[in-house]
Amino acid sequence: MHRFRPLALGAVAAAITLSAANADAASLTRAPYLQRVGPDTATIAFRLDSPCVPSVRYGTNGAASQTLASSDNGKVHAVVLTGLTPATEYTYEVEACGTGTAPKHFSTAPVPGTRRVHFAATGDFGTGGPEQKAVFTSMHAARPELFITLGDNAYSDGTEQEIQDNFFVPMADLLAEVPVYASLGNHEYNTDDGQPFVDNLYLPTSPTGGERYYSFDWGHVHFAALDSSCAIGLGDGKRCTLKDQKQWLEQDLSNSRADWKIVFFHHPPWSSGKHGSQLLMRREFTPIFERYGVDMVLSGHDHNYERTRLMKGNGEASDGLPYLVVGSGGKNLRTFKGSQPAWSVTRNDTDFGYLDVKVEEGTLDARMVTATGEVLDSFTLTKQLPPAPQPATLALTVEGERGVAPHQVLFRATPSLPGASVIWDFGDGQAAEGLEVPHLYTQPGTYSVTATATAGDQTVTSTTTVVVEQDDQTPTSPTPSEPSTGEPTPEPPTSPTPSEPSTGEPPAPVTGDPGLPPTLPEPPPGMDGLDPEAMGCSTGAMATLFPAGVLLLAGALRRRRR
Ligand SMILES: [Fe+2]
Repeated sequence: MHRFRPLALGAVAAAITLSAANADAASLTRAPYLQRVGPDTATIAFRLDSPCVPSVRYGTNGAASQTLASSDNGKVHAVVLTGLTPATEYTYEVEACGTGTAPKHFSTAPVPGTRRVHFAATGDFGTGGPEQKAVFTSMHAARPELFITLGDNAYSDGTEQEIQDNFFVPMADLLAEVPVYASLGNHEYNTDDGQPFVDNLYLPTSPTGGERYYSFDWGHVHFAALDSSCAIGLGDGKRCTLKDQKQWLEQDLSNSRADWKIVFFHHPPWSSGKHGSQLLMRREFTPIFERYGVDMVLSGHDHNYERTRLMKGNGEASDGLPYLVVGSGGKNLRTFKGSQPAWSVTRNDTDFGYLDVKVEEGTLDARMVTATGEVLDSFTLTKQLPPAPQPATLALTVEGERGVAPHQVLFRATPSLPGASVIWDFGDGQAAEGLEVPHLYTQPGTYSVTATATAGDQTVTSTTTVVVEQDDQTPTSPTPSEPSTGEPTPEPPTSPTPSEPSTGEPPAPVTGDPGLPPTLPEPPPGMDGLDPEAMGCSTGAMATLFPAGVLLLAGALRRRRR
């Protein structure tokens, strides 16, 4: 859904600290900003003054040890990192053809359902002025995991130049380390219904609204962003309609199984500020919020802070939800004209600030924090959550974990996931499926065995080790874990050994009897008879039975061939 448009860079002078390695290096006209951060992915976006193929260096533990080149060779870049570890801090730097940025840090999202989330929100800030900078310096110091905007992100009209000067430049430090999820304000709508603003961001999308209205999960919180300017008819209706947006929201909220649901957009359903309550938003959307269990609604537009009681329909109700106006992000503050309505718990028209929200288990703690760190308001919402699902486990038992080649082992898996199927990678290139599987190791070696249990979209793995030793009475052959001695070796193994480099492909599952290798092993000389002790198979009943059975069969086949 995202479309690039060339920037009118002109006199753009981004305040970026760079170290230029040579005079011909490209320089960054827009500092790196984080987008679409998930449990295993993050997008690092930035812009250059001349075409180049830059790269991002990144890694954990403070070391940017991995490198990923941009797939673009122009000026506009969005490098998508994948394969990241959830809830983990990463360090990253941009290397732009001889110019590099200072190291920045960000954390990946926790795995879905994690019951601990910290986010910040504010609106009506995009001026490039000192008040905006002070609010976002304070917000950055609080280290939220994500930042949601409540609209009017780039005054006065959301043009390309204003987006650069009033959004990206003044908030560069925050945006480099905290992913932003934006909603559109009426001021962005002044230019092509807000299209330049969404084109500058890489947001989640919805099928009918693109990046204008969308949702995402972070931990155990479901966030839904609406385009209230579209909803109340500020646009031309070509890209967005009220009907489609309501339909999408109903479906989105009804599908969500998140513990908490928070909706954010620009025009407030409840406000005693200058603009007052946006009654169309109240009429069209609050029934949906109530029907699908939305816990809190955040808006801006009025340049003040205000929190309602628990509201339902047009009045207060114990099973209602709070509506907040956080429009004090930096533009200016407007004095309340009328007296405070009964539905308004608290309001403030004298301080710039942002809302800092921590949601842990069934408790949501929110604080309205000023640019100087003072707390203007705080409140708590609580709810009873079902017991947290326990992490899936997979217990393994091994009969015959040590023996002499050829060595039969019996593996058993006990997954905690009901109805799980278990795939075994025996570490010798062979695989099988089942809760209880035998396997014959034909060669000496130390084998790392991995079992993977899968039920629906849940997966859990466990590993164990099997050690198969060389029989003293057989000719010496190199073991998979030892270098060759240069001695003559018997016939090569029929399957890859653990010492062979991995191809990255999972081993092919064995069909038929998973315990039998594709070709029966040649028993070592002198082992045609049944001598479990000599075969090192005295570690249990199964360890005795399986090698004996297999070798009986192998011996019989040898005699028949003779
Ligand atoms: Fe506004």
